[in-house]
Amino acid sequence: MPSLYQQLAHDIEQGIASGTYVAGERLPGVRALARTRGVSVATAVAAYEALSDRGHVEARPRSGYYVRARQALRPIESRPAAKTAAPRLVTGQAMAMAMLKAASDPAIVQLGAAMPDPAFLPTQAIGRVMARVMQVQRSQAAGYMLPAGAPELRRQIAQRMSQGGSVVSADDLVITTGCQEALSLALRAVTQPGDVVAVESPVFYGLLHVLESLGLEALEIPVHHREGLSLDALAFALDRWPVKACVLAPNFGNPLGCGMSDEAKLALVRLLGKHKVPLIEDDIYGDLGFDGRRPATCKSLAPRADILLCSSYSKSLSPGLRIGWIAAGRHHARVEYLKYVSSIASPTAPQLAVAELLANGRYERYLREARGKYASAVARMSDALTHVLPHGTRLSQPQGGFVLWVELPEGIDSVALAHRALRHGVSIAPGPLFSASGKFKNCIRISCARVWDARTERALATLGKLI
Ligand SMILES: Cc1ncc(COP(=O)(O)O)c(C=O)c1O
Repeated sequence: MPSLYQQLAHDIEQGIASGTYVAGERLPGVRALARTRGVSVATAVAAYEALSDRGHVEARPRSGYYVRARQALRPIESRPAAKTAAPRLVTGQAMAMAMLKAASDPAIVQLGAAMPDPAFLPTQAIGRVMARVMQVQRSQAAGYMLPAGAPELRRQIAQRMSQGGSVVSADDLVITTGCQEALSLALRAVTQPGDVVAVESPVFYGLLHVLESLGLEALEIPVHHREGLSLDALAFALDRWPVKACVLAPNFGNPLGCGMSDEAKLALVRLLGKHKVPLIEDDIYGDLGFDGRRPATCKSLAPRADILLCSSYSKSLSPGLRIGWIAAGRHHARVEYLKYVSSIASPTAPQLAVAELLANGRYERYLREARGKYASAVARMSDALTHVLPHGTRLSQPQGGFVLWVELPEGIDSVALAHRALRHGVSIAPGPLFSASGKFKNCIRISCARVWDARTERALATLGKLI
């Protein structure tokens, strides 16, 4: 006869199989379950642990147990080459502009741009704080800010970075208009047109736009689906080409969502140091790991190395605030000057508002909520995709962020698919956008941070049919 906990586990498993509980959904808390089923809390925990061992549920610290996505589609298994192709100028990024326009068209189901639906963000709290700033700090909000940004905001950011192990003060930071501007300023500070820049492959396409606009050549370094950038390939590239900077997102990079280990980060910093190549570290997703752990940045592991750390609150508070920052180390003065030249300073009111949101401690709560929602959205989307995508498709298994990288069977042209999907009211991001050389033809990126509704389900069904 099965024991109590086995019976309970069996019942929950049935509930998952029948769709009563769907992927990404939070299951009843252990106390509530124990109460309704008339068993002890220990029995409820044992049932969940058994389900967790069998891969049906996952425990999230301080949050509870969640239904895990079925892995009917096989995970991506990359074995990055240890060599790289020659650097090349980036061109032809017009497709990305079309996708960004589609993202703001309410008639289109937006699965392309990595733009969280407002339901994932603390929009009400932001609205309240912005209103207060415009009333209480009206005169200050109406004026220019210093090029480096609001001192109190910089102090708050420096405090959070210090808690994460980085040695920075407010004077080491420049507030930027999103992480995109931080990356652009960093590249302008350390390169000249025509220089070669090492980037991940696949890479966040916005970075390719920046390279394109600055006349820089991209040297694509392959990324392993779980371990991050291939250090062998980077070493190969550094020996062969005059690389002037390396741009990298070691924590839950976009689009693969994987993270490098601390050992790999240190090896990376040593390798770049040997070749005297500055690292531009993009940490925009660093706070958004599904397990709630805040991974180290290269900057915190190697405070003396030549690292320009870029980040923003676009994925945790709101992309519309356009508040980012850069800790540029020895390039600080140059970056501050470039910021002044390009826009004098970032808008004042959002800076004052974010400073207030950080100061009252609520930010950590928003972050916990965003992480949980993103993790559930990714699990749910992974599960839904297994029903609509063809056999032979492979899915990434991100450890943070909210995007999925999908490898469709060979021969499928993702650019043609994206055009067709757009005509049917669905926006996706085709793989070649994430490469300077048109790689990843059979891949697409799906943004999962949207409210799950009938439109989303219809859009996925349409996508399946088009494929
Ligand atoms: C890896 C990465 N870096 C930078 C950015 C740009 O961020 P922001 O919206 O803060 O400019 C994005 C946006 O999607 C991103 O995914």
